[in-house]
Amino acid sequence: MYGLLLLDLLEYTMSVEEIFEQYLGSKIYRDREKLLPDYVPGELPHRDEQIRQLAVTLAPALSGSRPSNVFIYGLTGTGKTAVTKYVLRKLMEKGNGRIEYVYVNCRQNNTSYRVLAELGKFLGIKIPFTGLALGEVMKRIIHGLERKSRILIVVLDEVDNLVKRNGDDVLYFLTRINEQLSNAKVSVIGITNDLKFTEFLDARVKSSLGEEELVFPPYNAVQLEDILRQRAKEAFNEGAISDIVIKKVAAIAARQNGDCRLALDILLKAADIAERERASQVTEAHVEKARNEIEKNLTVDTIKTMPLHVKMVLAAVYLLSRDGSTKTITTGLVYDKYKELAAKIGIEPVTSRRITDILNELDMSGIINARVISLGRYGRTKVIEIGVPLKNVEEGLSSDILLKAAIEEA
Ligand SMILES: Nc1ncnc2c1ncn2[C@@H]1O[C@H](COP(=O)(O)OP(=O)(O)O)[C@@H](O)[C@H]1O
Ligand SMILES: [Mg+2]
Repeated sequence: MYGLLLLDLLEYTMSVEEIFEQYLGSKIYRDREKLLPDYVPGELPHRDEQIRQLAVTLAPALSGSRPSNVFIYGLTGTGKTAVTKYVLRKLMEKGNGRIEYVYVNCRQNNTSYRVLAELGKFLGIKIPFTGLALGEVMKRIIHGLERKSRILIVVLDEVDNLVKRNGDDVLYFLTRINEQLSNAKVSVIGITNDLKFTEFLDARVKSSLGEEELVFPPYNAVQLEDILRQRAKEAFNEGAISDIVIKKVAAIAARQNGDCRLALDILLKAADIAERERASQVTEAHVEKARNEIEKNLTVDTIKTMPLHVKMVLAAVYLLSRDGSTKTITTGLVYDKYKELAAKIGIEPVTSRRITDILNELDMSGIINARVISLGRYGRTKVIEIGVPLKNVEEGLSSDILLKAAIEEA
């Protein structure tokens, strides 16, 4: 996603030395790393309540008792991961080696086996990349824990990815494990962005994981401004960023469910653009460019991962919009165009009923906008338009070789 930007025209005219020099004597950055997603800042404004609650829940570990399991939920970018790591680090500092924690991201490790293998690795147990039965891995983990005789806090971040794929066996195992331990104790912190995730859980797992629950509400624009100001202070040189820019970035992210990750992403990208243009300040125009770039990447990535027939329906809408000969694009027109495409590519078309469903899905994703209009005595139909820049849709569809050819020929 970054690659395209780096091929900026400007850089074609610069020598390697010049490119490197630019970063050495940065006008913009004091410390760029302070904006990266994995950096946990020393302060987390507007999360005092969550930090306090998590601290209160985990504190019993300091006197040797097992803290309650915690279930944390909230939308993306509401600070769940950052707060958890922040509190756990402080707890480690006070724990004098009697408490440990292991962090597993279940999006990267999205099978039961891989999650357990990560735990094993942490405990210093050899677990082959594949091959052992889960039960055997579990047995070895119990041994490993007993040998350590510590309180171990297991953080399963984005745990919904694991459960949707492999069910809740690992959660069941970990929330029951204390019955089999005499020297060690285990607590689980489960984190999810998916608010409806608990529907996938067995009632027993649900109640043991949810001994404590912590909700992270979305940030509003003013809160995001405070957060960005504080991160900007660490990352930027004096005068490299203005409050107007901070406010603009915060406002954009506030409209996207208060996603702080998006806010920081835009800020970083805007500052990178400013840096490359050798500007001494990040401006609103840089923010605009960064935002377009990020939105484009989102659209393109979303389209790339769509199933073929969804892509084909989108391609049909795209072709009808691009050609511009039809003012109102109706479901019927889309279906005809779709069948034409299917014939061209040599693929069996799906039913018009399914096309209606696909159009609804595309509408939900925001890539198209559909509204129902009345045709008087002819009933009702859907009128459809593309909801994002056409060239972004084209780029996304073109990643599919079949569709690329079909679009170019059409
Ligand atoms: N209150 C805050 N103060 C400073 N940075 C924050 C705050 N909340 C979130 N962030 C930052 O925003 C990004 C997203 O937060 P993260 O904890 O990863 O969100 P989540 O896990 O809820 O999706 C991270 O870079 C994080 O450091
Ligand atoms: Mg997270």
